[in-house]
Amino acid sequence: MTSDPMVIVGAGQAGLQIAESLRSEGWEGPIRLLGDEPHPPYHRPPLSKAWLLGEAIEAQVGIRGPEFLERKGIEHVMAREVAAIDPAARSLTFEGGETLRWAGLALATGARPRGLPVPGADLDGVMALRSLDDATRLAARLAPGVRVVVIGAGFIGLEVAAAAVKRGCEVTVVEAQARIMARAVPPAISAFHTELHARHGVRILLETGVTAILGESGRVRAVATGAGELPADVVVVGIGVVAADDLARAAGIVCERGIVVDASSRTSAPGVVAAGDCTVRRLDDGTSQRLESVQNAVEQAKSAAAALMGKDRPFTATPWFWSDQYDVKLQMAGLSAGATAMVTRGDPASGRFSLWHFAGDRLIAVDTVNLAQEHMAARRILDRGMALTPDDVAAAAFDPMAAARG
Ligand code: NAI
Repeated sequence: MTSDPMVIVGAGQAGLQIAESLRSEGWEGPIRLLGDEPHPPYHRPPLSKAWLLGEAIEAQVGIRGPEFLERKGIEHVMAREVAAIDPAARSLTFEGGETLRWAGLALATGARPRGLPVPGADLDGVMALRSLDDATRLAARLAPGVRVVVIGAGFIGLEVAAAAVKRGCEVTVVEAQARIMARAVPPAISAFHTELHARHGVRILLETGVTAILGESGRVRAVATGAGELPADVVVVGIGVVAADDLARAAGIVCERGIVVDASSRTSAPGVVAAGDCTVRRLDDGTSQRLESVQNAVEQAKSAAAALMGKDRPFTATPWFWSDQYDVKLQMAGLSAGATAMVTRGDPASGRFSLWHFAGDRLIAVDTVNLAQEHMAARRILDRGMALTPDDVAAAAFDPMAAARG
């Protein structure tokens, strides 16, 4: 008798990793990886960079090809939408009514772009960037002289701005907050990147609200803001994402701005795990944490696969992120929010520097600009919880690479 399959809903980075890790954890039964997109699983990070510049083809953004999936016995079902899940019955229903029973269920449904709640947001030419198809549609519109207004100066907005200006577009970024990337980086990085964009000809309007998007014959023509009307041929909305937790929520699984999971990626429903951008992790102190990153997707997925096999493998590594804008690689290790002291190493004017963040005397995060080796060293230092004070790091003789080896 063949067993019911392990079923994964969502075929992105997290979903695919769960499938692969189920095999390495010893699951020998069938695996169904269900995705609603018409593509094999692909990497999202290049979409707002190389893909917009026309420097990557689909084979290069693909994570694993069909041969690999076949070899691993992973059945990838494309372009199928799951309508409902029933944890008590261990079954799900597809759009259209067909049902499927599972031995274990993993939710890796990701996140969707937050919609801009103003009139005109549905006009032709107003776009978000999340999927490969979104990126392809946007890339087709970027040409010399095209006026692009980007709403939101987060990672998506700024990476799109850098790509668009490189394609010869006239780019304006509208940000509600007083500085760019405020959610993820300290003021010194915001200042460095604001200057970087200005140097490349991108105009950034801070503390500016959007009141409407204006159109003509169904097409966008301008963005109405507190600072006046900005003429636009293309508008890119990058104001954050919302966890896609609808299936879990409708099934009575505990959700709070995402599917609530423990350190081992278990949800409140027995036999159901979740990983990646659709989750919120409950921490030991009762607070919760949302991490929207590739690393989180991959590591939570490994924990989720282990949990489906009855093993506890909590994900404990230091969070890390990166963003490429122009020729600047920004890398963040740890979370700098809540820092009480910061040490700057190197000179920002040189284009290569790092910021070491402390809570009291404890190192909690390191941001590096164009210092990839130092970022790797900082990750090792943070992972090991090495005792370094602000004075240690500020010393001229401090060598992060040697410290990480020590
Ligand atoms: P985000 O949360 O990073 O940035 C959104 C920005 O929009 C914030 O600066 C916010 O203040 C601003 N904003 C919000 N409402 C606004 C409004 N009404 N008008 C003007 N500005 C407004 O989200 P983003 O950039 O959309 O990215 C989406 C997701 O993709 C995130 O999970 C992000 O981490 C991820 N991503 C990560 C990348 C990376 O790590 N390099 C690259 C691209 C995306």
